[in-house]
Amino acid sequence: MAEVTYNEATSTWLLQMSSSAYGFVLSGEARLPYHLHWGPLLDHEGLSTISAAGEVASSVERIAWGKEDPHEYVPWGGQRYDEPSLKVEYPDGTRGIEWRFATQLVVREDQATTLVLGLADSAYPLRVDLCYRVFDDSDVLERWARLVHIGESGTIVIRQAHSANWWMPRRDAWNLSYLHGGWGSETQIAETTLGPGKMVLESRRGTTSHELQPWFALNAGDAIDEEHGEVWSAALAWSGSWKLVLETTPGGHLHASAGWNDFDSPIELLPGKEIVLPVFAGLYSSEGLGGASRAWHYYELAHVLSRPGRSGGSPSFPSLITSTSVPAPVVPLPSLRPVLYNSWEATTFSVSEEGQVRLAELAANMGVELFVVDDGWFVGRNDDRAGLGDWTVDPKKFPRGLDPLIERVKALDMGFGLWVEPEMVNPDSDLYRAHPDWVFHFANRGRTEKRNQLVLNLARDDVADWVYKTLDRLLSEHQIDFLKWDMNRHFSEPGWPAEVGNNPERSWVDHTRHLYQILDRLRSAHPGVDVESCSGGGGRVDLGILSRTQQVWTSDNTDAWDRVSIQEGFSYAYAPLAMMAWVTDSPNPLTGRALPLRYRFHVAMAGSLGIGGDLTKWSRAELTEAKELVAKYKVIRPVVQHGRLYRLASTRRGLPLGAIEYLSRDGSELVVLAWWGIRRYRPWPTRLRLQGLETTARYRDVETGEEYGGAVLGQLGLRLPEGLDFTSMLVHLVHVEGR
Ligand code: DGJ
Repeated sequence: MAEVTYNEATSTWLLQMSSSAYGFVLSGEARLPYHLHWGPLLDHEGLSTISAAGEVASSVERIAWGKEDPHEYVPWGGQRYDEPSLKVEYPDGTRGIEWRFATQLVVREDQATTLVLGLADSAYPLRVDLCYRVFDDSDVLERWARLVHIGESGTIVIRQAHSANWWMPRRDAWNLSYLHGGWGSETQIAETTLGPGKMVLESRRGTTSHELQPWFALNAGDAIDEEHGEVWSAALAWSGSWKLVLETTPGGHLHASAGWNDFDSPIELLPGKEIVLPVFAGLYSSEGLGGASRAWHYYELAHVLSRPGRSGGSPSFPSLITSTSVPAPVVPLPSLRPVLYNSWEATTFSVSEEGQVRLAELAANMGVELFVVDDGWFVGRNDDRAGLGDWTVDPKKFPRGLDPLIERVKALDMGFGLWVEPEMVNPDSDLYRAHPDWVFHFANRGRTEKRNQLVLNLARDDVADWVYKTLDRLLSEHQIDFLKWDMNRHFSEPGWPAEVGNNPERSWVDHTRHLYQILDRLRSAHPGVDVESCSGGGGRVDLGILSRTQQVWTSDNTDAWDRVSIQEGFSYAYAPLAMMAWVTDSPNPLTGRALPLRYRFHVAMAGSLGIGGDLTKWSRAELTEAKELVAKYKVIRPVVQHGRLYRLASTRRGLPLGAIEYLSRDGSELVVLAWWGIRRYRPWPTRLRLQGLETTARYRDVETGEEYGGAVLGQLGLRLPEGLDFTSMLVHLVHVEGR
């Protein structure tokens, strides 16, 4: 069980997690919290030794011409030049912060413990609560801050408010891994060595973005090791504009601070009001990037992903299983995701009852469990130039309404899902004609369209209310089990003329806050309805949206070979259960690359399997093969979606091979998926060394019946298929009992 303890004698707080610890000291006259430790397990004695060494504050301040003492939450003020966690402006124009310890409180919730440390400004009515939550079964530490105006008058302007600030231990060199990309090429891993100065990762786009992910992993030294070595990783749970600053100070310290992006975003804090900042979660692993990923995945499964039956708060989970020799208890992980069919690539905007029924019949016969009608079903939506905002069923396409299609889909024993893009409007729509002021805009400036659409200002209460009511009506009038919630452009001209003089810039944050509130309200009004977050592919994937949805659309690029690296990047931060992956047509509509059906399936089976091709054009042989592969996926699905993931081979450094192993939590089953790209020049490895197996156990191949020793699989490895380009492999092994 996680423990949060305070030691009076040493004035140290210690947060002990499954296999790591975090600690700080309350020091000086103001008893402010200074960071001491984030790493392996440690006790208070260890903390006080670090504290007594005083290495951090004194040596740094001798070298640097400014203060670099490692505040847990860095206030801007005094001789402070590094990235602040908090910068405010008081009504009389004072801009620096001077504060002191005010309160401390430990709250025990179900399976989680939260420490709340209150700091108060010594002259102004601002209290900041630093919150730290640890879970009994995880190494993830959730950190966030709450800003409270405790006065009765005057507005405090928040110029920059980050959620938390993480200090790394002293090391000679740091290597940073982060995720970048673009539309159709999301979650590419990048590595760089951090030198002096700042590395800023951010989104100013109003949403998480395809371009950068609010996630990082750091390791000391210059090489990443998949299964060994210390890794410090953190991720921000926010789906709007964000900023993450990694700074190596003149004194040689590295700290990472993140939160809402301060760009164009002063926020007014009124008397008696509070601002709760999003979680900036962090974890330490001594098992390399692989260990860090597995810790993220488990945390997401256990504590983040919303799921049927979860009523809020932390669900109960027993200890994280870290060794296969320990029998795993049955844990209530989120429900397995259904195999889905999505109509987008098959029909684009040309949807009709007849066409969708035909696809539904073919999908059902293949074993699909959830049928999703994508874009094009609502009035005026014949292409991307019109219709967004007018969320009523198009009577030309569905003369009998949606219900006959839904009934047919249900009769075929599938759930029914529908695509929506509620935050957007086409200028050519009744909604826009009635409410042109509902979109973000500046006076006397153009309204830049992207994909012929504008962004509704969801920060407005009337717009948020309209979005909620529109979706609530849809879900109440039809038997819908699933929404694909899309968002196909980023913000521009983020103005709100009606609120000029009344902090219109708050819309950067309030848009996302209202999005979360709408999702929460819909979830409680329609608890059986699952939601997929999509934003022109993977433009809104982060811990914040994952806490309110069940899955995300990874990328509009469904080319299986491109997907190998997109999905690998995704796996560094996010769990396979949440990663929707479709099998689509060949040649791929985006890239033109032709790939075997089996290969396309093997790639999509690495996450939550979906089918997105035009099944009316698949041959009988292809439909039969697909049916067999869907059946196979259902067998391996619990291992893929709930298991522990090991990246066995990576395309990251140019190797034309990706391979992932999934090990069930009790160690009794494992699945290996491997995919070759184009093989050239050198003799690439022909075996994959498996991870996490019991060396003395034996494992049987479910398909061939062949048996292997655990030590052999771990040392010599599993043989890869012969053959040239774009061959793939799926191996399912089970632990042989009683040997
Ligand atoms: C972008 C999404 O990523 C696609 O899957 C599809 O839903 C289209 N939008 C529909 O307009």
